[in-house]
Amino acid sequence: MIAAQTIRNSHYLPTELEPCVIIEDDALNALNNFPDNTFQCCVTSPPYWGLRDYGIKDQIGAEMVLCDYIAKLVNVFKEVFRVLADDGTLWLNIGDSYTSGGRTWRDSDKKNRGRGMSYRAPTPEGLKPKDLVGVPWRLAFALQAEGWHLRSDIIWHKPNCQPESVKDRPTRSHEYLFLLTKSEKYHYNFEAIIEPTTEKNGSKNRRTVWSINTTPFKDAHFAVFPPSLVKPCILAGSKEGSIVLDPFFGSGTVGEVCIETGRRCVGIELNPDYTKIAKKRITQANLSFRY
Ligand SMILES: C[S@@+](CC[C@H](N)C(=O)[O-])C[C@H]1O[C@@H](n2cnc3c(N)ncnc32)[C@H](O)[C@@H]1O
Repeated sequence: MIAAQTIRNSHYLPTELEPCVIIEDDALNALNNFPDNTFQCCVTSPPYWGLRDYGIKDQIGAEMVLCDYIAKLVNVFKEVFRVLADDGTLWLNIGDSYTSGGRTWRDSDKKNRGRGMSYRAPTPEGLKPKDLVGVPWRLAFALQAEGWHLRSDIIWHKPNCQPESVKDRPTRSHEYLFLLTKSEKYHYNFEAIIEPTTEKNGSKNRRTVWSINTTPFKDAHFAVFPPSLVKPCILAGSKEGSIVLDPFFGSGTVGEVCIETGRRCVGIELNPDYTKIAKKRITQANLSFRY
């Protein structure tokens, strides 16, 4: 049984026997190799701007200038647009950050080594110290300008959010998940993700605030998103057997959920330490859900 194979520079696609392919490469490079209209759905969480140092050449997120970060992501998502089916969907989770207020580094915290930064980007032009940068909306508008249909902003509310020591603003307990599409009409199975109502056996169309706890993944020292955030995206955005893409695969959460729900997956990840973690995770998911 081969659950996942890690390869480099290829457009190799997953099969029934090998439902998840992990490509160890830069996202843009790897996407260039795939033909148009390959994937039904893309679920991903790119590196956030200036929040984590993944310590690897070509990493996205460590740009000193905000516009460079947005431009790099726009380029990656231009390729995602090309390789997505015409009725495909992109589910994009992205977090915000604050300007550094003149500090040039950040200590790592005990719970999260990846939060230590040897640099802090200077305050972007037009912003002030302590400003919320608004990264998610800047990216969403940039993608909209490139031709994506911006269909929904979903609030990922985290009931168990990290405490913050701030006393001059509320503690941040949400992130954004954007639903973007290639066309006006697209595959969206609303029934697969209906919500219960208070009436007995009642149900209603899914709402835009999703309360989901963060779930730590023990092997990873970086931001993983919880499987329960990914699952509704995959259920609504694809069918059994569809191929789902995650160009920033990290620990492979999207791959795990694909295996659980009978989808196939291509995950692209730059960092060889993380592809190892993802491969192990996919192999375990295959044993739990398929055999
Ligand atoms: C927010 S994390 C994704 C975590 C993932 N959703 C999970 O649940 O584990 C972003 C990932 O993007 C990877 N990354 C950074 N720059 C990249 C690039 N240029 N190409 C591909 N992956 C990259 C990082 O190594 C990191 O694993």
